[in-house]
Amino acid sequence: MRLVKRIANLGYGSRKEVMRMFREGRITDAAGEVLYADDAVEHDAIRVDGEPLDPPQGLALMLYKPVGYTCSTKDAGRLVYDLLPPRFRLRDPILSSVGRLDRDTSGLLLFTDDGGLLHRIISPRANVVKIYRATLAEDLRGDEAALFASGTLMLESETTPLAPARLDVLAPREARLHLGEGRYHQVRRMFAAAGNHVVALHREAVGGLALGDLAPGTWRTLDANEIARVFDSSGSAGHPGST
Ligand code: URA
Repeated sequence: MRLVKRIANLGYGSRKEVMRMFREGRITDAAGEVLYADDAVEHDAIRVDGEPLDPPQGLALMLYKPVGYTCSTKDAGRLVYDLLPPRFRLRDPILSSVGRLDRDTSGLLLFTDDGGLLHRIISPRANVVKIYRATLAEDLRGDEAALFASGTLMLESETTPLAPARLDVLAPREARLHLGEGRYHQVRRMFAAAGNHVVALHREAVGGLALGDLAPGTWRTLDANEIARVFDSSGSAGHPGST
């Protein structure tokens, strides 16, 4: 793909605008030599206004979503995209979140512009286990783990029961839930079905990939090993015994 189109597709501007950036000498190599639109240059060697070019197509990243941000590209309030560089919203192919977290849920949210990767992660067949930590309004009754593991729990207005899920009780009002599925508001609805109410929800891991030491509201790109860890069937993400 020609350099102008490659740079335009990363959200730097229309092809016309990127052509102008070339003419203005804003696009250089690492040594500061001005590049021309028909030069053949490695991605990593390109600088725009002295800054490295954004990651190429095939981008995957993790974000620590804080509470109060919506997984949407257009909503009146704070959007998860506001936490990424503004250019990322203009990329072609588009950068999408991998599934969604509720506005009031915090934690690990993945993004990618690779549609194949996105579908592999969310496909029920991949059985990528998502790990949530829930804080509850009421003490746990003690029967929730058996109920969630039963494979018979039916949520309101659904026609198929939930697949078995694992619950670890951490404290009277604190639990870790391991879900292979990703139904709408699933965690909140599961606890509601058990007569409780989720007051705080945090996603700790997706498959074998955990948030680690990422700070709230920040993001970083994922390398191939980290992407592979998402599909790590143990789904342990540092929590021994998870399935
Ligand atoms: N389940 C929920 O209820 N909310 C989320 O954000 C994710 C899973």
